[in-house]
Amino acid sequence: MIARTHRDRVIAPSLLAADFGRIQEETSRAIRAGADWLHLDVMDGHFVDNISFGPAVVQAVHESNDIFLDVHLMISRPDHYLPRFIAAGSDLITVHVEADHDVAETLRRIREAGCQAGLALNPATPIADVEPYLDQIDLLLCMTVVPGFGGQPFMDEVLPKIQQAAQWRMEKGLNYHIEVDGGIGLATAPKAIAAGANVLVAGSSTFSAPDMAAAIQGLRGL
Ligand code: DX5
Ligand code: ZN
Repeated sequence: MIARTHRDRVIAPSLLAADFGRIQEETSRAIRAGADWLHLDVMDGHFVDNISFGPAVVQAVHESNDIFLDVHLMISRPDHYLPRFIAAGSDLITVHVEADHDVAETLRRIREAGCQAGLALNPATPIADVEPYLDQIDLLLCMTVVPGFGGQPFMDEVLPKIQQAAQWRMEKGLNYHIEVDGGIGLATAPKAIAAGANVLVAGSSTFSAPDMAAAIQGLRGL
């Protein structure tokens, strides 16, 4: 696995936008199309108003494919389910600062298990809420839509938070990735990149594109 730093552009198609009736074929398609990571949007129907899939799907994808699995837990009790997502083969596990858990302890347990640790915040959550954890993470996910569904419009009001996260990374001498997720495509990615993001989660704009490889290449070339 190539070690990537926050200076590397990473394109992470979201499986949420794939055909759930053909998950293996869709995963293979993303790999062939040049995806760096596969973003797995786990939803519990409580933290967000939608239910997607759980550890069994993560494990199935892991067992049949060799791609870095970027697992985004949009669930209320990430600490409770953590062992199952670790055992399923996650490479990076992102938990929400808004969820009901001891954030520092969950991040510690993720890294202790040998996974990379990510912390996510929703559009309405102040960037100050994640500052205490910046030295304990490998990735900060700034949601650019209200989580729950793909295909929503990019929220420009999140851009100042991305800029602040990038500034803190420099000031504090840290090196976490900054990931954006939601409404990312050729029209919106440039704004997020200019603000400091380097990991682009894209669902609709990649899996639903007429040419997935061209869509990924387009995002990589920005
Ligand atoms: C929101 C999901 C979506 C998905 C990407 O809960 O996390 O953001 O990954 O959806 P698109 O790229 O279709 O906006
Ligand atoms: Zn996501």
